[in-house]
Amino acid sequence: MNLTDDLHLIMTEFLQPLGEAAVASLRITAGDCWSVGIRCHSSAWPDLLIRSVTAADVPTLERFGAQLGPHSRSLFYPYPWHDAAALHTALETAIARSVNRINATYVIESGGGGVVGHFFLHDTCAAPAARQQGICMPVLGVAVADAWQGRRLGTLGVRLLQAISPHFGADGIELTTLSNNLAGQHVYRCCGFEDTGVIAPPADANGMASSISELQMLYVIRPGKRAAMEIWLRAKRGKSTTAGEASEGSIR
Ligand SMILES: CC(C)(COP(=O)(O)OP(=O)(O)OC[C@H]1O[C@@H](n2cnc3c(N)ncnc32)[C@H](O)[C@@H]1OP(=O)(O)O)[C@@H](O)C(=O)NCCC(=O)NCCS
Repeated sequence: MNLTDDLHLIMTEFLQPLGEAAVASLRITAGDCWSVGIRCHSSAWPDLLIRSVTAADVPTLERFGAQLGPHSRSLFYPYPWHDAAALHTALETAIARSVNRINATYVIESGGGGVVGHFFLHDTCAAPAARQQGICMPVLGVAVADAWQGRRLGTLGVRLLQAISPHFGADGIELTTLSNNLAGQHVYRCCGFEDTGVIAPPADANGMASSISELQMLYVIRPGKRAAMEIWLRAKRGKSTTAGEASEGSIR
């Protein structure tokens, strides 16, 4: 199936509990993984737009960050939320990587609430080290604005990324999540991710270990590449990290 058809299937599953009559329109344009646009009008979602980010989206993601409370920010920190200047630079870099087709980055907008969700795959063409192993395994990240959590948008974001990934040749998708992130783990397991191991927390500046470890998870797209992916993930788990240095591929 082509990308548009695959996305259509995921959206149909998402909207299905509402009943057919509740969905006024669903329009999908997806020239490729970097130019996705999904617009839907339904009873539960009067004006839902899911789209690829553009170069103009730094303020969009800044606004999204403002909708994440301290707990969500502690679970999802691919960007330095606490430092406005550093955040701006990090978002510029992240968006440039998407515009240049290294990452694939998306936002969910809801007519009434502005940007309410954000999800992405880092290293769609595979990180150089992973390429050496002959595998393409992007790293998934997802977050939903606090006021919009629990309405299946997080699951939708993960499912859309799973549908998009084969279209740029991914063999699998990896992620890490804090071991106390039970809602995140529930969503990932429901979407077919499996636990591959635990990454010990890095030592702090005093050499003391944090109490929260990370769970590493894998979604297999090409079963023939499973062994290579597991070797790669095991090597990542084996890498020790020091204070202030995130383990490689650790994106929450
Ligand atoms: C994790 C997150 C993306 C999920 O998005 P969401 O839209 O709230 O999730 P959904 O509504 O699709 O699904 C939530 C599921 O988690 C379950 N859940 C919620 N809290 C839970 C908990 N404490 N323990 C176990 N399951 C929990 C819900 O019951 C629901 O499952 P169900 O559909 O089987 O009933 C969202 O909560 C979020 O952004 N959290 C903060 C940032 C974050 O943690 N990002 C991920 C970093 S790895």
